Amino acid sequence: MTDNEDEVTRGAAALLVVPEWHSQKLSRDLGARAEEARGLAVAIGLDVVAVHPLRLRQTRAATLIGVGQIDAIKPDIEALGVQLVVVDASLTAIQQRNLETAFGTKVIDRTGLILEIFGERAATAEGRLQVELAHLDYQAGRLVRSWTHLERQRGGFGFLGGPGETQIEADRRMIRNRMARIRRSLEDARRTRQLQRAKRQRAPWPVVALVGYTNAGKSTFFNRLTGSDVMAEDMLFATLDPTMREISLPGIEKAILSDTVGFVSDLPTQLVAAFRATLEEVTTADLIVHVRDIVHPDSEAQYDDVRAILNSLGVNGAQDGEEGDAPPAIPQIEIWNKIDTADPDLRPLIEEMAARRSDVAVISAVTGAGVEAARMLMAAQLTAAHKVDRIYLAYEQGEAAAWLHARGEVLGDEPQDEGHVLTVRLDPADRARFERLWPATTVPTP
Ligand code: GTP
Repeated sequence: MTDNEDEVTRGAAALLVVPEWHSQKLSRDLGARAEEARGLAVAIGLDVVAVHPLRLRQTRAATLIGVGQIDAIKPDIEALGVQLVVVDASLTAIQQRNLETAFGTKVIDRTGLILEIFGERAATAEGRLQVELAHLDYQAGRLVRSWTHLERQRGGFGFLGGPGETQIEADRRMIRNRMARIRRSLEDARRTRQLQRAKRQRAPWPVVALVGYTNAGKSTFFNRLTGSDVMAEDMLFATLDPTMREISLPGIEKAILSDTVGFVSDLPTQLVAAFRATLEEVTTADLIVHVRDIVHPDSEAQYDDVRAILNSLGVNGAQDGEEGDAPPAIPQIEIWNKIDTADPDLRPLIEEMAARRSDVAVISAVTGAGVEAARMLMAAQLTAAHKVDRIYLAYEQGEAAAWLHARGEVLGDEPQDEGHVLTVRLDPADRARFERLWPATTVPTP
């Protein structure tokens, strides 16, 4: 692109507009939504100086929010030196332009905000490309709908006989070319990543993926689990992905813990692909740990959002009404976090609800309460589905034998002609993995 209209400056004084429609299902508390939007804005370094939650009776094509509401916001913009207005909704290009004119500041919408966050958090080259692709897609959509806007912006350049349809065509072509180049690079990156994953799958340790709604406390929990357990070999995975660490769990020598980007509701469509790429680790995990802020007023709605994304990744197994070939569900547990913030009357109820379930641990990642029990639950889940198998290996298959010793529990080792039969307790995913790694040579004995 030839301009940086969409770029957000760190430290900029921002005003948040959080609209809610009268007809909207009221599962989300307006105050909580405003808090979430503030959290997203703060996450990219904006200085949020004012928040305006608004209830809308109807949306206006020109500006989304009403004229009276715009007038009510304006004094804050001047008084507080606001440089950027963030509207926590999806704006059309025209609405964005009109609001920019009305407020005299830059305006971004929820999609723009989330794009910025993904841009900042994309840690790998591939992640950055995915985000850039999403950004270009977003901008291309705006070009089509807002060429007059661009004409205004480009007015000062004046080359090629002035801006107009030609300039837009040139912009579009440039965007298309850049998108095609990115898609090719992504294809290369994907191949490299597959190779890396194959290498990692040879490493005989289970992978635990943390997922959760943004702000649920994943990173805090991640740090608690890794804090005292980070090992010297840590660097092995640091090079593959900075958010993977080795941990030990009760009865399990090593596991790999992978943190993921926090989920948000109303994920912009342009970002779904980028999101999937960052979540690919989840689809190959041995255990998914869903961290929830159990005290949040929208805890249930957040849970539904996360589940919906997990469903779309196919990790929940076949869904109702779905035909067949879905891969088997990956075992999941829930971590009910932030219990320290629960109202004293509510806390026993939450704990009682959790106690009735075998897949829930209640913790405070901040105080550390319950974390040990959570580690035990994770370990128990990782070993729960294990089955005992008898596997014949020729003596020269030392690597396969070592893999079984590391990943499973070897209960017996009987010598046979030119080989031996190992009796091993393995979880089904590992059994399948073993078959993939040493397919032709493995002969399970009766
Ligand atoms: P994203 O990076 O957006 O996905 O967030 P996250 O899920 O990684 O959340 P993070 O660990 O960054 O925690 C969000 C906020 O909640 C931080 O201010 C934490 O200090 C706070 N927090 C996390 N766990 C707890 C808890 O158990 N109790 C309390 N009181 N606060 C917590």
